[in-house]
Amino acid sequence: MAIKQVLKMGDPLLLEVANPIERFNTPELNALIQDMKDTMAALDGAGLAAPQIGVGQQVVIFGFKENQRYPDANEVPFTVLINPQLTPLSDEMEEDWEGCLSVPGLRGKVPRYTSLRYQGFDQHGNTIDRQVDGFHARVVQHECDHLQGILYPMRVRDFRSFGYTEVLFPACVLED
Ligand code: NI
Repeated sequence: MAIKQVLKMGDPLLLEVANPIERFNTPELNALIQDMKDTMAALDGAGLAAPQIGVGQQVVIFGFKENQRYPDANEVPFTVLINPQLTPLSDEMEEDWEGCLSVPGLRGKVPRYTSLRYQGFDQHGNTIDRQVDGFHARVVQHECDHLQGILYPMRVRDFRSFGYTEVLFPACVLED
């Protein structure tokens, strides 16, 4: 499989709405997911959506352990999530820093629902149905936004909390 080039903000493919997957466990789907895993691992990302490598389908992957890019974040189990549906569990939102492999070198504070239920399928077509909060909920919202053509800067409310990582967090070793 392969490490793919990640499209950057400004590419119109990142603004398209992705199509649902209709058949699971196909060679094409399995190859796509392997490419996404390889690409996310190579770039040390917390998540990746298929549109970021130019594939307009409703597939996201996410998960991480200890990660320098998000030193305060809790562990999130590695997950392949297909055709996701998100349901906030309350109206409560909170702002926190996000980055994106399609927006390298920048960070912004983004409001997200603090807790939500997400439903969908894994790559074999098994149902996924979880209730999560905190950073896990944030990552899911960020990745699923990609399937709607939404990049996190489009959700930043206060551009005083948006800038270059190296300036915002000079003490951290952050590669993008
Ligand atoms: Ni992203």
